[in-house]
Amino acid sequence: MMGNFEFINTIEIEIYKKFRHSVGWGDLHHEQVEELLKNSICFSCLMDGKTVGIYRILWDGGYTAYLADVIVDEKFRGHGIGKKLVEHAIEEVKSRMQPGWKVKMLLLAAKGRESFYEQFGFVSRPNDHEGCGMNMFLQKE
Ligand SMILES: CC(C)(COP(=O)(O)OP(=O)(O)OC[C@H]1O[C@@H](n2cnc3c(N)ncnc32)[C@H](O)[C@@H]1OP(=O)(O)O)[C@@H](O)C(=O)NCCC(=O)NCCS
Repeated sequence: MMGNFEFINTIEIEIYKKFRHSVGWGDLHHEQVEELLKNSICFSCLMDGKTVGIYRILWDGGYTAYLADVIVDEKFRGHGIGKKLVEHAIEEVKSRMQPGWKVKMLLLAAKGRESFYEQFGFVSRPNDHEGCGMNMFLQKE
C-alpha cells in the first residue's frame, strides 16, 4: 500500500478504545485502558499521519514478551500493515535483549489467525512438546 509509514511509541486512549471496539473484543473501563496503556510497550503505525494499526507488548524485562492487541483498521487490511506491526514488534523485543539472551515471545491468536502468525515463526500449541495455551476471565462484582 502506498503512503508514508511511521511508528510512534504510544497509543492514544481514544484510538485504543476505538480499535478494540471495532474488533468486538469487549469494551473496558476507562481506568483499565489508562493502566494497560501506561504499563505496556505501545506502538501505533501511522500512514500519512493517520493511525492504521496498533500493537502492545507486555515485557518483563528479562525473558517474557507477550504480544497483544495487534489490530489493523478494517479499511486498511490486506495490504501488509499487519505484517509490518508484527515485524516491528519482534524487532522491538530484540532491541531490548542483551547478547546471548533467549527470550520467549508469545501470544494468544484470535480464532483463525494462527497462520497469520506462523509466517513470523510463532509455533501453534498444542504440539508434540507443548500443551495448549490457557486463559480465564476473572470478574469482580
Ligand atoms: C490479523 C490482522 C492484524 C492482519 O492484518 P493485515 O494488515 O490485514 O495483514 P497483512 O496484509 O499484513 O497480511 C500479511 C500476510 O498475512 C496473511 N494473512 C492476513 N490475515 C490472515 C489471516 N487471518 N489468516 C492467515 N493469514 C493471514 C496475508 O495473506 C499476508 O500474506 P502474504 O504476505 O503472503 O501476502 C488484521 O486482520 C486484524 O486487525 N484483524 C482483527 C484483529 C485481530 O484479529 N488481530 C489478531 C489478534 S490475535
